Amino acid sequence: MANYPTSRLRRLRHSSIVRDMVRETFLRKEDLIYPLFVHHGEKIKNEVKSMPGVYQMSIDVLVEECKELVALGIPAIILFGIPEHKDEQGSDAYDSNGIIQRAVRAIKENVKDLLVITDICLCEYTSHGHCGLLNGEEILNDETVTLLAKEAISHCEAGADMVAPSDMMDGRVAAIRKALDYKGFTKIPIMSYAVKYSSGYYGPFRDAADSAPAFGDRRSHQMDIANSDEAMREAKSDVEEGADIIMVKPAGPYLDVIYRVKKEFGMPTAAYQVSGEYSMIKAAGKLDWIDEERVMIESLIAIKRAGADMILTYFAKDVAKYLDKSK
Ligand code: PBG
Ligand code: ZN
Repeated sequence: MANYPTSRLRRLRHSSIVRDMVRETFLRKEDLIYPLFVHHGEKIKNEVKSMPGVYQMSIDVLVEECKELVALGIPAIILFGIPEHKDEQGSDAYDSNGIIQRAVRAIKENVKDLLVITDICLCEYTSHGHCGLLNGEEILNDETVTLLAKEAISHCEAGADMVAPSDMMDGRVAAIRKALDYKGFTKIPIMSYAVKYSSGYYGPFRDAADSAPAFGDRRSHQMDIANSDEAMREAKSDVEEGADIIMVKPAGPYLDVIYRVKKEFGMPTAAYQVSGEYSMIKAAGKLDWIDEERVMIESLIAIKRAGADMILTYFAKDVAKYLDKSK
């Protein structure tokens, strides 16, 4: 590259027309997946204290929300359930009348053109808040995987368009793929939470989903925050087991991992901008310490620039409105 004064990098920055012309990264509505929390009961719309603008909704309210999302141009949602009854086996997760199964049916009956993804894990459904079956304080892997496959089948029978296992048990993608295929759901893609760190940024989510573990933490299955070679092994095993889309989570603090995963596997790659990332921006914005809208967009552009093709974000509605406004 030529040096100054021949090269003046500022030449392309003077006019907004030229800046728009040379921009490399874009946020599109098509990139967005909006997480929603389904609460048992009726006419319920509880704001989550640690997540301003995010609500637990009963199915009737959820259906109306979904219509609004379609009108805004948001293409996809991911559902989390808050069941009325929890037990040691998390049986609501794979009950044909479970909270998610009923929610998916209601959405599919009433809303067109919305991709419905369901989160596959047990922690929202177990009385102890752990992601799997317990033997004492140990989370059992293979026994849990069997239930996760049942959960995935049950969500698909209700009408889910895609399933997203978030549990981090070994071998669950292969087991879910096999189970879905056996039941004839050969066209349902799996978006696997392939690289999910044991992160402090999930704090507000556990308020939203009422899924905090009763004892201990999730370090025996989620990844150590310090590791990224291991992230490649996690992603590789999910790709080999049949994942169609691989996810990195959280997103903002793990841009290096998103970059590596995209480079190494060239797979459709999702990133989850998690509850804590959202709440920190919201909180600082509310205090007028930062320009919330500007930082929101910057945080999401950064995630795409790192290599993500799609983003799960609680900002999805705000982004859609921003994109409409800035047209
Ligand atoms: C459930 C699950 C969690 C999140 C998504 N699926 C919580 C956890 O692992 O504790 C976190 C999402 C967020 O923080 O926004 N396994
Ligand atoms: Zn879990």
